[in-house]
Amino acid sequence: MLSWLMGKKKPRVLASHDLAQLSPATIEVEGRGHYQWQHHRSILEVLDLAGLPVRSSCRSGNCGACLVYLLEGEVAYTKEPGFPLEAGECLMCSCVPVGNIRLGLLSSPVPPRRRK
Ligand code: FES
Repeated sequence: MLSWLMGKKKPRVLASHDLAQLSPATIEVEGRGHYQWQHHRSILEVLDLAGLPVRSSCRSGNCGACLVYLLEGEVAYTKEPGFPLEAGECLMCSCVPVGNIRLGLLSSPVPPRRRK
């Protein structure tokens, strides 16, 4: 629990054949409910389709607008994100859950100084 606080990890990037092997998973958004994920959709796409209002912009892992806290579980990226991540963060537009996860939304947007 909270192993994400222990330090920075390089984002795990999945090859397309590994993506196809992932099992359906539950995405819990703290205080906002539970959502079901299935293959080939980003976490952001799942939440968009469910009608949950979340921030986004580039949708390609470069701007940081969709950044959330990964409170439990593991995610993997479909490509190397261009935005610099710190421990315990993930970009919903570019990753998928590897098993059930719990996310925490940021109370305010990511400061512009962190953006490239
Ligand atoms: S929307 Fe830009 S990094 Fe996700």
